[in-house]
Amino acid sequence: MVHLLNVFGLSVSVKKNGKLLKILDNISFSIDEGEILGLAGESGCGKSMTALSILNLLPKDIEITGGEIFYNEQNLVKLGEKDLLKIRGSEISHVFQDVRQALNPLMKAGAQIAEMLELGAGRNKKNLKKIEIKKQVLELLVSLGFEKPEKIYNAFPHQLSGGMCQRIMTAIAVIKNPRLLIGDEPSSSLDEESQRQCLSLLKDLNHKNKMSLFIISHDLSIIRQFCSRFLIMYAGKIVEEGPSDLLFSPLHPYTQALVNAIPGKDKRGKVLENIPGKVPSIDDQLTGCPFAPRCPRAKAGCLEIFPPALQIGNRKVFCFYPATGETDE
Ligand SMILES: Nc1ncnc2c1ncn2[C@@H]1O[C@H](COP(=O)(O)OP(=O)(O)O)[C@@H](O)[C@H]1O
Ligand code: SF4
Ligand SMILES: [Mg+2]
Repeated sequence: MVHLLNVFGLSVSVKKNGKLLKILDNISFSIDEGEILGLAGESGCGKSMTALSILNLLPKDIEITGGEIFYNEQNLVKLGEKDLLKIRGSEISHVFQDVRQALNPLMKAGAQIAEMLELGAGRNKKNLKKIEIKKQVLELLVSLGFEKPEKIYNAFPHQLSGGMCQRIMTAIAVIKNPRLLIGDEPSSSLDEESQRQCLSLLKDLNHKNKMSLFIISHDLSIIRQFCSRFLIMYAGKIVEEGPSDLLFSPLHPYTQALVNAIPGKDKRGKVLENIPGKVPSIDDQLTGCPFAPRCPRAKAGCLEIFPPALQIGNRKVFCFYPATGETDE
């Protein structure tokens, strides 16, 4: 399997009161061609910042302060805006968590999707006539579960619900058949049926076009069912990674706490409840394992240095005292 995207030692920081505070600290991971990789963790752990770093879409006061992101033998961290623009949307596209802000309020939904094809054909190679573009957009709207695609095509974002906007954003992201789609909670504001349709379209594109997917979700059951591999993130660090079918038999005490926080024995379709304690703020800038204050397995040494990667079978875990892979299911 060839790596499509390789992230090495990525650090991202925000400038606050003259100091650089780390939001992401030395994270590494890769996404293979045709793979579906999932990323989970509580709110504020750095999932969106990880996704936004890839195409350098970070907010103004936040910057990449270390590491490399290789795609097609190019280090995206070093690319200028002009070169990044050629990749955005055509080769790597991004479904933003905040869809309302990402859509243009003054432009009809259909025109926003069509504009992507009008800007160039992307991986589809041939340039299309206006009428062919509209036909393609309408077909895509149907596959995203819109029963009256013409009406949606002609609607402005404010006339659509949050879930509908999320599907429009997905259409904009996939219409050029990119090699990698980054979806930041791509189905979180959808009802169950629309969520099923949206995820099944993405799975279809992954299967037919070998489109790799990097899916961020707070719903561990989606990660387990939909993705082939998972990453768990805590306080700006990746703490565990492995194949998704082992997600519910975690090794890291944090992953274990997340899994145990999902109510019920059958964890399908359930969203995690709070686990005791809270994610540290970036102002804390802890040394050692950031999960230590919440960890039932913590010992004195855990506070001194961040644990190195431990390879256990096909899993990697960053913990001095990993669990056995059993949960209280
Ligand atoms: N514009 C910003 N300025 C300062 N800190 C920010 C900003 N955006 C996010 N953060 C901080 O970065 C951390 C990671 O945020 P984020 O990646 O959005 O988390 P997640 O997507 O996992 O919920 C959080 O501690 C958050 O408070
Ligand atoms: S390194 Fe120590 S504190 Fe951190 S998760 Fe492992 S046991 Fe808990
Ligand atoms: Mg987020």
